[in-house]
Amino acid sequence: MNTAIWFDLAYLMGSVGIVWGLKRMSSPDSAGAGNTLAALGMGLAILAAIFYPLGDADNGNLAWILGGLALGSAAGYILAKRVAMTAMPQMVSLLNGMGGATAMILGLVEYLRLGSATTDFGSNLTVVFALLVGAVSFSGSVLAYLKLEGKVDDKKITLSFHSVFNLLLLALVLGGTMALSYSTDWGIGLLVLFTLLALFYGLSFVAPIGGADMPVVISLLNSFTGISAATAGFVYGNLMMIVGGILVGASGTILTLMMCKAMNRSLWNVIVGGFGSVAAGVATDTNQQVKSVGLADAAIQLAYSKTVLVVPGYGLAVAQAQKVCKELDELLEANGVDLRYGIHPVAGRMPGHMNVLLAEADVPYPKLLDLEEANDFLNQCDAVVVIGANDVVNPAAERDPSSSIYGMPVLKVWQAKNTIVMKRSMGKGYAGIENPLFFEKNTYMLFGDAKQTLQALVAEVKGLG
Ligand code: TAP
Repeated sequence: MNTAIWFDLAYLMGSVGIVWGLKRMSSPDSAGAGNTLAALGMGLAILAAIFYPLGDADNGNLAWILGGLALGSAAGYILAKRVAMTAMPQMVSLLNGMGGATAMILGLVEYLRLGSATTDFGSNLTVVFALLVGAVSFSGSVLAYLKLEGKVDDKKITLSFHSVFNLLLLALVLGGTMALSYSTDWGIGLLVLFTLLALFYGLSFVAPIGGADMPVVISLLNSFTGISAATAGFVYGNLMMIVGGILVGASGTILTLMMCKAMNRSLWNVIVGGFGSVAAGVATDTNQQVKSVGLADAAIQLAYSKTVLVVPGYGLAVAQAQKVCKELDELLEANGVDLRYGIHPVAGRMPGHMNVLLAEADVPYPKLLDLEEANDFLNQCDAVVVIGANDVVNPAAERDPSSSIYGMPVLKVWQAKNTIVMKRSMGKGYAGIENPLFFEKNTYMLFGDAKQTLQALVAEVKGLG
């Protein structure tokens, strides 16, 4: 019997596992199971891919493949175990870069294998395109990783006419793609030059993008890697690579567009850069004073409110205060308070960061309100507790056209009767800009580490009982 049929069946089952897994990831209740299902699907596909091309004789390659697989799996496992939740975007970026590097190497090897054989323009283009997109995705992801780790400063590597420079570079690499696809006779020297140019374009593409736009560019690069993997799948006639690559490419593109929408920006505006890398709008009047609130007053205010909205942000994740936040939630609910959570789509440092954090503390999902629902709830809200959030509650996004976050939809916490802001200092958020919310007449600052402050607040509320 034809053994290829079993491999195709394994690819089909692998694809179904991944698609079904992705579907299950759309709800926090089933996301864990969805992840396992997708991992099983991918595992099955990897096994099939290893044994598929070997046929009867493995040509001595199997040991290399298994050795590489063991090394890569061990490195991935250790990295995933060690990574802090707040450093996830960096890790995603790095892993994405590895995918791009793989597609680039496949492109290089296949192009060299084509040699001066007479192949058609279409097949050559597929190989060169995988090389190009893989190289851009690889170098771009590595630079994104270095920026997120704070090892590279956005401002120092951006030229004055960077978008024009990038357009010229793009024209050059696209011209190179056409030339290399037209004929495979150019020789290794030009191929290496083209690869270096593509790598440089990836760096230059990411260079002007900074600040809060980084998650968007990571997601965009992720979709590039998907596209390069799908293209490489065409080169090898591998169905699984095509399906997997298309899924990654499509989901990366959808996520990119959703994030742009959440920030009210066009993709072009993000790519051209500027957000988080320009000096922030109107300077805050330094004579303005903030008002602080004591723990006892904050406890009374919350315990006697009818409706409370908690706005979690990056600081909640840093302080790992989600469980004690849930404790406060339970105490207030027992007092008859209707408490909800306002979740901004880009709060924290990765898509769904706050949802994951609150799910970890067993906060029921129906209590989580999205941006629009939370803004409706705010109109009739007695008190808001902002826990380690800053940019996502910044009124400058609505009021100050010169602000770098102008136009980004935010949680309008200033509309509630009172707002308590928990943070350690007057420190800025990710976008590096002042927040006029802290100076509003109905805003009260409760300074300190979010976890310690919440623990003390819980004790105060218990004391009221
Ligand atoms: P941020 O604007 O980054 O503000 C977080 C605040 O938390 C800081 O001002 C900091 O102030 C405070 N903080 C830090 N550690 C704390 C601790 N231990 N206890 C209490 N407070 C602490 O956070 P956000 O409002 O969640 O907004 C997210 C930002 O990140 C947006 O600009 C977004 O575009 C960007 N971003 C988002 C993502 C995604 S996809 N979610 C990915 C990357 C970047 P102190 O230093 O004064 O304490």
